[in-house]
Amino acid sequence: MYPTLRLLVLISITGCVELISVKTPQKHVTVTMGESALLQCTFVSAEETTALTIQWDFVSPSTMMQQVYYYQAGQDVITDSYKGRVQPPYSPGTTRNASISISNMQASDAGVYTCQVHNFPDVDGESEANVIVKVLEKPSAPYCSVHGDVESGHLVTLTCHSECGSPTPKYTWIRLDQTKTRRPVLGRATETGVLEIRNISEFEFGEYQCTATNAVGFSTCTIELSPEVGDGVIAGAVIGALLGCVLILLVVWFIAHTLKKRRYKPVNPSEANEMTRSAPQAQQASDSVTVATPASNLHAEGDEPQA
Ligand SMILES: *[C@@H]1O[C@H](CO)[C@@H](O)[C@H](O)[C@H]1NC(C)=O
Ligand SMILES: *[C@@H]1O[C@H](CO)[C@@H](O)[C@H](O)[C@H]1NC(C)=O
Repeated sequence: MYPTLRLLVLISITGCVELISVKTPQKHVTVTMGESALLQCTFVSAEETTALTIQWDFVSPSTMMQQVYYYQAGQDVITDSYKGRVQPPYSPGTTRNASISISNMQASDAGVYTCQVHNFPDVDGESEANVIVKVLEKPSAPYCSVHGDVESGHLVTLTCHSECGSPTPKYTWIRLDQTKTRRPVLGRATETGVLEIRNISEFEFGEYQCTATNAVGFSTCTIELSPEVGDGVIAGAVIGALLGCVLILLVVWFIAHTLKKRRYKPVNPSEANEMTRSAPQAQQASDSVTVATPASNLHAEGDEPQA
């Protein structure tokens, strides 16, 4: 004989053994992120509810069992991490309704919630029941990337991934041609977001768009596939830019050097006579040249006695 049945028989004989019965009318609750989850729980007990206790616990694959809510002697105790989010049951002693509501549900709130009711001395029977909660989340903006040399005849792999999303998003790729018309991709695509284009040809260059989709929504990202975005081309561009910088530096140095040489001209032996004759003027001229360095002055002075 089943234990319950035996108890029932016992009740019918003695008429004084009571059974508590806890029920969760909705065993599966699915909410979207940010919404409230109503966790329903009702109980039946023939006893007065003066010694009533209610406890809601939560457990998920990534968290240890933790208490969410506790009720005893007419007092609500909400666990700190749930403060401000839990709506406690309203007068559960009279309504026999131990339902709670949790607002602003997050992905981490998905799991199993257990409702336990004890009403001493009515302790036998089904004192607990579960509610399984799923939290749906729209895929977050995916990240599109290109791997491989984007050159004709090469293998190119495009990947797409959303960090968040529940249920796990599925990914699809399409190609947008010059007129932004959606074209099917010529390659092997997987639901995990990987698109392989073997032996890429110019017909496959263009803009590629990935869409991450789940039951709640979708998000997209696009990436340009043109020969210019290849790694080799980027390296070339970097080297080119560096060479350009070096060239500019060389030109600047050359100009500066030429200008300096020009200023030395007056101390050339052929022109030295002219310079000594108009010495005060030359002195004035050199004063007005602010870029003159001490070395060049020294040079000019050292040469003077020779004249
Ligand atoms: C229990 O309470 C909840 C929220 O207060 C309510 O939505 C639900 O309908 C109630 N259940 C019953 C059986 O009264
Ligand atoms: C790549 O494509 C070109 C032209 O489309 C073809 O001639 C060549 O044989 C292909 N190579 C491979 C390895 O498939």
